[in-house]
Formats: sequence, C-alpha cells, structure tokens
Amino acid sequence: MGCRVAALVENVRAKAVAVVGAQWGDEGKGKVVDYLASSFDFTARYAGGHNAGHTVIFNNHRYILQLVPSGILRPGKKAVIGAGAVVDPAALVGELENLKRSGVDVRGRLFLSNRAHVIFPYHREVDQAAEAARGEAKIGTTSRGIGPAYEDKMARRGIRICDLLEPECFRLKLERMISEKNAICTAAYGHPLETAGLFEQYLELAAHIRGLVADTAVLLNHALDRGESVLFEGAQGTMLDIDHGTYPYVTSSNAISGGAASGLGVPPTRLTGVVGVTKAYTTRVGSGPFPTEMPDLDAQAVRARGKEFGAVTGRPRRCGWLDLVVLRYAKMLNGIDSLVVTKLDVFDEQPEIKVCLGYRHKGQTISEMPPDVETLAQIEPEYKTLPGWKKPTPGIRDVRDLPVAARDYLSFISDRLQVEVGMISTGPERDSTIIPRGSKLAAWL
Ligand code: GDP
Ligand code: IMO
Ligand code: MG
Repeated sequence: MGCRVAALVENVRAKAVAVVGAQWGDEGKGKVVDYLASSFDFTARYAGGHNAGHTVIFNNHRYILQLVPSGILRPGKKAVIGAGAVVDPAALVGELENLKRSGVDVRGRLFLSNRAHVIFPYHREVDQAAEAARGEAKIGTTSRGIGPAYEDKMARRGIRICDLLEPECFRLKLERMISEKNAICTAAYGHPLETAGLFEQYLELAAHIRGLVADTAVLLNHALDRGESVLFEGAQGTMLDIDHGTYPYVTSSNAISGGAASGLGVPPTRLTGVVGVTKAYTTRVGSGPFPTEMPDLDAQAVRARGKEFGAVTGRPRRCGWLDLVVLRYAKMLNGIDSLVVTKLDVFDEQPEIKVCLGYRHKGQTISEMPPDVETLAQIEPEYKTLPGWKKPTPGIRDVRDLPVAARDYLSFISDRLQVEVGMISTGPERDSTIIPRGSKLAAWL
C-alpha cells in the first residue's frame, strides 16, 4: 500500500528543470533556455538583475533579455521574475518597451514577485563609488547597483516591490532610507545623494509594473501541483556565485541551482533535473583570477570568432581554454544531470585545442577548487592537447555528422566529467542545435 502511494506521487511530479551557467557567465544560457522553453509552461528567473544579458536569436532578430526570462519569447508561455532577483523598475520598463517594439506581448504572461527587492539610483552610485575606491583591485562590476541592492536586502533595510505599490508606506521607507544613506554618503564622500524627485519617479514606474505583481511562490507551487512544468533560468554562472565562486570577484547572489529553490520559494525536492551550460572554451568579464586564460593572440582569435563582447556592457570578454576542474566543481555544486556545450563552431578553424585536466600549486597537485583567489592566481593548469577538426559545424543536426575530432572532443569532456552531453550548439540561432538521441535532456523536450 505504502509503495503504491509512493508510485502515485512520483507519477504526478511535474517537470521542474534548472538551467545554470557552469562557468563565469555568458555560457549561452539564453539560447538554451529559449530552445527548451517551448516544452515548459513557465520560465522563472531566480537571482540577479539586469547585470545579466541573455541573447536569443531567431528569424533574423536578436533579442537581449536582462530581467525578463528568455521563455517569454515563446508565444503563450508564462514567465516569472522571483523574489531572489533585484529589480531596477526603470530597466524593467525599458526592457518591456523593447519587447513590445519587437512584437512581444507580455500581458497576462509575465509575473513579478511582490517580494523582489528594488534597485534605486543610489545603489548604482554606491556601486560605482566602491569600484573607484578599490582602484586596481576593482571587481569590474556591471555598475548596475546589483551588489549594493543585495547589501540593503541582507541588512534588512531594502525596499521591495510590494512597498512600491503602497504610496504612503513607500514614502516613509524611502525617507528613512535616504536619511540613512545620506549620513553614510556625507561621511564617506563629503556630499549627500542626489534624491530629488525620486519618490515621484518611482511611483510613476510602479504604475507601469503594478499589473505584473503577484505572489510568484504561490503561483509556481500551485502550477506544479496542477502538473504544469517550470524551467528555472539561471543568471551569471557557478564561478560568480556569492558563496562558492571566486570571491570577492563574484556577483552578490546565488547563481547555482540551489538558488532556484530559495529565490523562487519552490522547494528543492520539486526540482527534477539540472542542465549545466558551458562553452567549448571559457570566458570571463571583469577582474579576478582565470587559470586557463589564453595568451593574447589566441584570445584575440577566439574573441573575434566567438564575438566575445558583453551582451549589455559591450566589454571584451577574457578568453581561455576549457577548464575541467571548474566544470567538475560546477557539476558537484549544481547536481548537473546534463551538460550543454555551446559555441563548438568557434573552434572550427582551430588547429589544436587545449583542455585543462587539473591544477598544480607550488609543485603539488590540487584536487579541489581552492577557496581563495590568491591561490587560484598562482595555479599552473595541467593541459592535454587535442586535435582540431578544421571543418564547419554550423547546420549539422545529427551528432553522427559532426567531424570525428569534434565528436572526440565532446566524448572526452563527457568521459572526464562523467556526465552526458545532452545538447551541442554550433551557432547562435535556434536551429544550430544538436540533441543526441536518448539523452536525459531529450526526455525533457
Ligand atoms: P548568457 O548570458 O549565458 O545567456 O550568454 P550571452 O547571451 O551573454 O552570450 C552568449 C553569446 O554567444 C551570445 O551572443 C549568443 O548569441 C552566442 N551563442 C550562443 N550559442 C552559440 C553557438 O553555439 N555558437 C556561436 N557562434 N554563438 C553562440
Ligand atoms: P549572464 O547572466 C558574465 C560579473 C561582472 C563582474 C561580477 C560582479 O549574462 O551570464 P555585478 O554587476 O553582478 O556586481 O558584477 O560579475 N557578471 C557577469 N559576467 N555574465 C553575467 O550574466 C554577469 N553578471 C555579472 O562582470 O565581474
Ligand atoms: Mg550574458
């Protein structure tokens, strides 16, 4: 009897799959989420803010999504921005206007958590001032005020979306906040913040987003109860995670799959799968150690072929070889069931490809990711060199049609990490995608 009940419960467990960046962000999550989203009822963002830039290309149109989940581009599908995100209402309104101009109607399909924290202009100012004060040691943030907004949240003085909707309550909280910030700013920088007109400006923005606001934890849990499926869209990447990344050169939220549960209020037991996204190589924007960073000439070639410039900031991305130590760490932290390898085509001209198998530090082999950036900066990567394939891969739809050396490269990654490669991307468009048959990922489509 007990067994039969357990089997019934298992039968109704709705599909709930997280897509996470396995490196330092910009792995191609937007493309992967857009591809998978047609097979899910909801796409939900759980962390970060408009520091993210997720690119989706189809029908010759390039969409860059920052806060709005990429699944919104699939007609009729629903999307959620959860409590774990930080929201700049002006950025959100701008993004919604861009979507509208591109013919994407979000009405009745996009839901914003009433518990998400709000980014104000003073967060941006503090972000920039803190970076300037750090000088050479700056993090290289996106200057969007993300860190300072999360600081206020954790210090329990943040203002949330639900506050914006109640003008009197909002006025009171904002006044309190401004007087506290001004005291700090005057002491630190010798001048108060520029806050004239802030209350009125944010009330006007609130009017634009009021219709989106919902209790999104209730919405998602009830949807899962009814058997509807949810795709969790990660932003940033594992190595930028506040707890497990290359601290302090990280973002200020939990980018790993665990963040999906806390950021959306969906219990971890409801998660049915995790997809990790990696490029065929590695990139990172901003400062911080990068053990497999390529020499300038190689990096320039990869940057040019892979168009490795920030989707939002336009900053050139630093380029490096694939780092299996990072991916092994990402597999463990996220519980990756299926790995997506993007940008394989960027290596189509590459004569030889290096892969980092392990780390050495002061002559010793290190088997786990060091916790401190000082050690990481002194790492000597141990490489294996594999042959390139020197043939074009875009347009290939079956893994058996890939050049042998490309297949060998993918098998090498899969064998070393003991995880399937469930999707291969050979171009930015939707149709430059290969799904090997029989994979776990194929079963989620
Ligand atoms: P995200 O932040 O993880 O969503 O990634 P970004 O959108 O910031 O950066 C990935 C970039 O690579 C975008 O410009 C994509 O259009 C592009 N891209 C994604 N997959 C592929 C691929 O397989 N090949 C090539 N050449 N470009 C890709
Ligand atoms: P997606 O979702 C790549 C990096 C910044 C900086 C550090 C801290 O597109 O993959 P922040 O503004 O968050 O305080 O900056 O994190 N960073 C990203 N790098 N992709 C992202 O998002 C990023 N979001 C933040 O460059 O090094
Ligand atoms: Mg990006």
